[in-house]
Amino acid sequence: MRVLGIETSCDETAAAVVDGSRGLLSNVVSSQLHLHRKFSGIVPELASRAHLQKIASVISAACEEAGSKRLDAIAYTQGPGLMGPLLVGKVAAQTLSRILGVPLVGVNHLEGHIFATELTEELRFPLVALIVSGGHTDLVLSRGPGRYRVLGRTRDDAAGEAFDKVARMLALGYPGGPVIDRRARSGDPRAVDFPRPFMPGTWDFSFAGLKTAVLYHLQRRGGRKPEAQETDDICAAFQEAIVDTLVEKTLRAAREFKVKHVALGGGVAANSRLREMLAARGIDNGLRVVMPPRGLCTDNGAMIAQVALHRLSRRRVDKNFRSDPAMTFHSWGA
Ligand code: KG4
Ligand code: ZN
Repeated sequence: MRVLGIETSCDETAAAVVDGSRGLLSNVVSSQLHLHRKFSGIVPELASRAHLQKIASVISAACEEAGSKRLDAIAYTQGPGLMGPLLVGKVAAQTLSRILGVPLVGVNHLEGHIFATELTEELRFPLVALIVSGGHTDLVLSRGPGRYRVLGRTRDDAAGEAFDKVARMLALGYPGGPVIDRRARSGDPRAVDFPRPFMPGTWDFSFAGLKTAVLYHLQRRGGRKPEAQETDDICAAFQEAIVDTLVEKTLRAAREFKVKHVALGGGVAANSRLREMLAARGIDNGLRVVMPPRGLCTDNGAMIAQVALHRLSRRRVDKNFRSDPAMTFHSWGA
């Protein structure tokens, strides 16, 4: 079974071909970062237009790189995401599915982030997944492909959004995550004692207070621009606070639900301190922690195709399977 996965939910126009037995055959990602950088965030209208311009060439490149004309199914990101960009991917996928006469599978973007790991490693269930991206911070309990319970999510800023906003306060550019990650390596995480928003009694997250604590810290300095070393220290202390919170809640959830496996996904999963702390503390707690290679953390078509492979294989055993993209949403919220 060979699936073309199309991802256009935000600012990457992406397509990939994944083979059920041979794995990843191609993975093409066209980033729009250069278009949005000067606005310090994604402009939906610009994103839609750029997807329209790029979608055909990205799909052609993915098929060509895969070195095969055969496709057994077309998968696309159904949501969540920006409406215009999602529609571009959906129409492209529907058109290809009709022309080739192969099944069409709509995939939940967050489910995709969980399954990105499976492109290089085995996922074992039940597991607790932490999905951290520019738009989401979700803690999910999964008993197998298609079986999810969202334990908690952010009540305000997503983890990636907090990285992006703090980077903007420090005039470090957009996107903020990679640059804070890099600057933090030369900083002292104990230089500033930022709060850890653990929020006991709920699996939800909240990062708005932490972000405001960074703002107050900068204001207390009387508007003076921090020196390079001070900036590195603020980056390290902020990153430590956010990573500590994410790791602690994920490990608590694994303990509470008696789960031995933890998976990480989403753009912020590329963060070096998050990867390091989750892996180390996972070992201390007797857990198997898996995460995608850095290049598959941010949005890509391969993770979408990977979810579709599971859905299509279940079709053989599940009489109720319909090529109904909404199905994923129902199981996601259950
Ligand atoms: O998953 P993704 O590509 O798009 C969404 O679905 O949102 O995630 C993008 C987010 C951005 O907020 C970016 O700042 C963050 O992931 N990010 C990082 C790192 N690389 C990307 N955050 C922290 N550390 C990184 N190394
Ligand atoms: Zn994403």
